[in-house]
Amino acid sequence: MPIRLFLLTMACAMSLDAQTLRSPNGRLVLNFSVDPEGVPRYALRIAERNVVLPSRLGLELKEQPSFLNGFRVTSTSRRSVDTTWQTVWGETRFVRDRHEELTVELRQDSVGGRALRIRFRLFDEGLGFRYEFAEQDVLKHFIVSGERTEFRMTGDHTTIWIPGDYDTNEYAYTQTRLSEVDASQGKNVGEIFSKTVIGHNFVQTPVMMKTSDGLYINIFEAALVNYPAMTLEIDQRTFALTAHLAPDAVGNRAYLQAPCVTPWRTVLVSDDARDILRSNLILNLNEPSAIENTAWIRPVKYVGIWWEMHVGTASWNYSDVSNVRLGSTDWSSLKPNGRHGATTERTKVYIDFAAQHGFEGVLVEGWNVGWEDWFGQWKEEVFDFVTPYPDFNVKELQAYAAKKGVKLIMHHETSASVTNYERRLDESFRFMKDHGYDAVKTGYVGRIIPRGEYHDGQWMVQHYVRVAKKAAEYQISVNAHESVRPTGVHRTWPNWLACEAARGNEFNAWSVGNPPWHETVLPFTRLLGGPMDYTPGIFEIKMEHYFPDKKEQVHTTLAKQLALYVTMYSPIQMAADLPENYEKYPDALQFIKDVAVDWDEKHVLEAEPGDFVTIARKARGKHEWFVGAITDENARTATAALSFLPESATFVATIYADGPNAHWEKNPKAYRISRSLVRRDTVLKLRLAEGGGAAVSIAPASPEDQRSLRSYR
Ligand code: NOJ
Ligand code: CA
Repeated sequence: MPIRLFLLTMACAMSLDAQTLRSPNGRLVLNFSVDPEGVPRYALRIAERNVVLPSRLGLELKEQPSFLNGFRVTSTSRRSVDTTWQTVWGETRFVRDRHEELTVELRQDSVGGRALRIRFRLFDEGLGFRYEFAEQDVLKHFIVSGERTEFRMTGDHTTIWIPGDYDTNEYAYTQTRLSEVDASQGKNVGEIFSKTVIGHNFVQTPVMMKTSDGLYINIFEAALVNYPAMTLEIDQRTFALTAHLAPDAVGNRAYLQAPCVTPWRTVLVSDDARDILRSNLILNLNEPSAIENTAWIRPVKYVGIWWEMHVGTASWNYSDVSNVRLGSTDWSSLKPNGRHGATTERTKVYIDFAAQHGFEGVLVEGWNVGWEDWFGQWKEEVFDFVTPYPDFNVKELQAYAAKKGVKLIMHHETSASVTNYERRLDESFRFMKDHGYDAVKTGYVGRIIPRGEYHDGQWMVQHYVRVAKKAAEYQISVNAHESVRPTGVHRTWPNWLACEAARGNEFNAWSVGNPPWHETVLPFTRLLGGPMDYTPGIFEIKMEHYFPDKKEQVHTTLAKQLALYVTMYSPIQMAADLPENYEKYPDALQFIKDVAVDWDEKHVLEAEPGDFVTIARKARGKHEWFVGAITDENARTATAALSFLPESATFVATIYADGPNAHWEKNPKAYRISRSLVRRDTVLKLRLAEGGGAAVSIAPASPEDQRSLRSYR
């Protein structure tokens, strides 16, 4: 080759091998390079500060030549995107997707030209990238045995984490330095029924970090639909985080067939914690709705026969025998235990309550046969999802609910026997439609069947999507408990309204519970992936209310329970306490009745992970606004500037605040309600008790309000 041509080729190769991408506002900079060994790497900076140091990219393929090095760049392409799309339901009506994209085509010449594409999308608040496999002769069907994607941190960041686990996210959070993470403590958490802690230095994503100079960094993933969930292994000396994938029953990670893509790996970064909560990056990296007609999908507030089982005054099971069998047990001959919650009569109480107070949904758990030995047996045929207990009359309740204008919500606890559930899915959904149900709460408590699979493995990830898809065929909405944590997939399947996939309010009923800071962490972690069915709204805070010697309690004030309807976004929100408890506090219940579950706008006013969150939202299609402010175990004053209100109009703010001596432990039920006139220049100062909160509803002032109420001071 003539020397000049050689130099030119070299220059081209070098320039291809080193790429720079800037975010739309120029603050974030991504560098991509391939090192002399042919290892692809990336680095991320924000305004000249390092966020991710040069970090390796790559996967391990089973029984294949190495897929980690020997790459060269054959071409690159770029694209600027600035579009806006409309949500079916959500925190905002419109979502802007503005990013710069870089696609790098890589090739391993020594492996017959085996090709890998890496696609980067750089937003103003963070980075997403994924691996893509084009159709090619040398790579068709393949098994991923590991992922080597790194996120090399610049130091020993303060980190809010839960243990890396293949089966659950239902842990309480811990805050330590990266070097101090000890996830093996997860093994001692007795109250989580099915858990598989990976090792002392593995943490779940999303993981929330803060650098010593005030940068907030969050690492997560988006569009997890055909791959195992990602946890992170921490090198506690170098602070390099490396992707770790949940295995399947035989130790493999993912089975892929080209053409295909992996989920996106994401890094959010800002020096303002509020930007983490404002971000739509995860949603933007998911595919648009796969459901064409979405008119039937409805956000909902609901009540249900549920909390009474968790506090222990009622049972899911009808009788106390411990050995039953679908198909041969004669359910009507079993001796009732007298505590069964899901009776026809009790369901009518809830339907009446829902109708009276404007709740659209009534969930009933424990209605179907099989609960006698549902748990802990690793039993396959536990439930059939179509046979009610003798004291639950499906037809009668269908008619009763319809007459009252209320929708019953179905419960499918699979007890993690997923094979059984899949076999019965069509029949179960048909049964629902035949009996007036159009939403289902699913559950996966226990060890997964197929035996050896994990809740977060590829097979289960596919299962959750399969259920959402099948449910959509029946126009059924889904709320999945004990599923993998969501990664924005509800954009694609908007009938998949929510997941649990974190430690919900229920833990407060029967375990050490959720410490007061818990709800100030969730928006920065679990909620980044999508709505959570947290089940707020508990008014009888202390379980001694039910049993004098019960020490458990909700670790918030009553007012904070109200604020959670605003700070914890979900299109389905439960009013989780018992009707008889709500009847005692009708003025506080009013907030739950009024608060919206679907929104036009979101305004993150104040936020610090683990400390406090103040958010305002505008109800979708209405002139109503709601503010929620919550704090951790420390009292503080939240500041809510109402500058999001329209100009030159006067509104009434109804403030549900902690009482003067409120305290999550010593005096949780003290609250007071006040009403005053506000305008867009009003700044609310909300005093939050230890473990407290404040909820505010804002609506246009009537002439009578303007005469009778005073301006907020
Ligand atoms: C665990 C769920 O999170 C909870 O909400 C449900 O009541 C029980 N499983 C029983 O299915
Ligand atoms: Ca659960």
